[in-house]
Amino acid sequence: MREAPIGVFDSGVGGLSVLAEIQRLLPNESLLYVADCGNIPYGEKTAQFIQQRCSAIAGFLQQQGAKALVVACNTATVAGVADLRRDYPQWPIVGMEPAVKPAAAATRSGVVGVLATTGTLQSAKFAALLDRFATDVRVITQPCPGLVELIENGDLHSPTLRQLLQSYVEPLLAAGCDTIILGCTHYPFLKPLLKQMIADDISLIDTGAAVARQLQRLLAERDLLAHGAASAAQFWTSGEEQHFRNILPKLWTSSGIVQKFDV
Ligand code: DGL
Repeated sequence: MREAPIGVFDSGVGGLSVLAEIQRLLPNESLLYVADCGNIPYGEKTAQFIQQRCSAIAGFLQQQGAKALVVACNTATVAGVADLRRDYPQWPIVGMEPAVKPAAAATRSGVVGVLATTGTLQSAKFAALLDRFATDVRVITQPCPGLVELIENGDLHSPTLRQLLQSYVEPLLAAGCDTIILGCTHYPFLKPLLKQMIADDISLIDTGAAVARQLQRLLAERDLLAHGAASAAQFWTSGEEQHFRNILPKLWTSSGIVQKFDV
């Protein structure tokens, strides 16, 4: 069981930013990744639809022999992680949420910005997160429709993307944010561009590395950490396989096998 793979999924390529952190921290682990690109963006879908997708993907990853599950998507976590934990009690399951707690601890100006999907920002889980950790700071939330679709096309710095991103960042800067949470796993791929738009003393916070550490803790607790050499990562997409193969080298350093996911 220790050498079994870890299942990771996202609505698309965003979770690759989390997969990279997992691979960096846990290089012996074999990784399976499902990108539900045929149903992008989750951020504008109903919670019920996302729950159905989470359940279908988790079932598939279980059939593939995964020993643990990482929901590498903030939007899928708010909609589906509770059901997944109920339906797969045997699995260590790691979800993700915008890094409100570390951002509230880090801000000096007392104003924190959150870039995330509409689905995440409108969820009760996000409201609860603010109630719990952000009572002493001002939080400016900014939904970012359209960004995920551009990133899915492999676009990380076109003039269109730059303009759209600028329009989302501007209100946060105007409000005096010195800490910006990247609350969607697609957005870490925009860090180089974002850094050009903000002053050096503004921090960008994402949760990929924290998720990898939490996964390590859960695996260690259950004596499930792999010791042998990892197999090459395997990828499935519910979108166009060739398209995924084309953009994978931009977003993922290692090689990997890409197959069709049609569940
Ligand atoms: N990557 C996902 C997240 O972390 C959402 C992208 C989407 O809207 O599909 O929220």
